[in-house]
Amino acid sequence: MEKGLKGRNIVIGVTGSIACYKALDLIKEFRKKGANVYVIMTYGASQLVPVRDFEKAANEVRTHTFDPGIDYRNYIRKNKPMNHISFADIADLFLICPATANSIGKMAHGIADDLLTTSILATLAPVVIAPAMNVKMWNNAIVQENVQKLRKAGMLFIDPEYGDLACGYKGIGRLANTEKIGEYIETIALKRKTLEGKKIIVTAGATSEEIDPVRVITNKSSGKMGTYIAEEAFLRGADVTLIRGTNSVEPKIQMKDIKINTAKELFNEVKRNIKNADILIHAAAVSDFYVSRKKNGKIKSGQTLALELNPTTKILENIKKLNKKIKLVGFKAEYRVSEKELVKRAFSLLKDADANFIVANDVGKKGRGFDADTNEVFIVDKRGRAEHIGLRDKRVIAAKILDNIA
Ligand SMILES: Cc1cc2nc3c(=O)[nH]c(=O)nc-3n(C[C@H](O)[C@H](O)[C@H](O)COP(=O)(O)O)c2cc1C
Repeated sequence: MEKGLKGRNIVIGVTGSIACYKALDLIKEFRKKGANVYVIMTYGASQLVPVRDFEKAANEVRTHTFDPGIDYRNYIRKNKPMNHISFADIADLFLICPATANSIGKMAHGIADDLLTTSILATLAPVVIAPAMNVKMWNNAIVQENVQKLRKAGMLFIDPEYGDLACGYKGIGRLANTEKIGEYIETIALKRKTLEGKKIIVTAGATSEEIDPVRVITNKSSGKMGTYIAEEAFLRGADVTLIRGTNSVEPKIQMKDIKINTAKELFNEVKRNIKNADILIHAAAVSDFYVSRKKNGKIKSGQTLALELNPTTKILENIKKLNKKIKLVGFKAEYRVSEKELVKRAFSLLKDADANFIVANDVGKKGRGFDADTNEVFIVDKRGRAEHIGLRDKRVIAAKILDNIA
């Protein structure tokens, strides 16, 4: 058995959902993989599954904030660890599984009226929430608002799945597959700390240049690649600043998120943030041109129009002048060229920009580049070597790029 989680402290909050017995499988799996698993059960959970079952599976189980016969003097005189924060402090990762609508609502409002919700407020560990509830509860506008609020606060969700629910309904609300939850937790627990303390800037998406107040020249970039890299870097513990085009996909994780329109705005934001940055990953598709004489009023339709375009500043080539020590990763999109030519052009850009890596792709091929969910890339390094990553999900490619940097 691979001990992939050896020595990690995973705290699992179990709340009063009918699915709470499923957390037992996860506890056993995490412990098999070497983790220490600490459980906090809500009163609701303790009514549905015997606490004893969890005590048998986990390293330790707690159900109460206040021990019977608690005496404040013991805490003051003897420096006794305090129940309400001790799990919060030791956690490398907090998982709430299953999470009820009630506990989600309490967390979204900063309520701390039991050991679980108190510990959540007191932890600095990443919090992953796996909800389970009746479909109507899940779709309830208040529950959804609470979920959004927690996402914005940086909590990660493993969304419930569609299927037959224990309450007899069919719909979204089933606890996500426990294998999937286990894999997700393992990935986060293992990745955490690999980029801790690193300040990373990621640019993403398309820039747009105004022709007049209502029309723009832009490109087809969705911002997925850059946004996924930013999320992945965040999960690895980096301090991430994402600078992205206004039409790019929304990051699912709350981080420093700056929106820009033009190439010039993008460059200004890079300059503003680059001083203490360790790594810059420039995945944005920056316009090569801007309209030289932008009109202040809306241009009338029904006439021939000639636009004069001027070249924008090449951002990648100017980064090292702003911060000599920064690790720099650029992207090179080409349209229908041979693989050899693609790598050659990427290497030439790498030298021009003094970059550490250039990620090159051919956007002329199906399923690669701009708006796709997948991509095929070559990661070219300073020696001109190219690592080929065949057609894969952009999240996998994001992870590979960060592996190379680390
Ligand atoms: C048999 C049973 C099953 C329940 N299943 C769920 C559930 O899956 N999801 C949910 O949000 N609430 C469920 N509830 C309701 C919660 O237990 C209730 O809202 C409780 O106050 C939750 O408290 P807690 O979040 O502190 O555990 C269930 C209740 C019962 C009696």
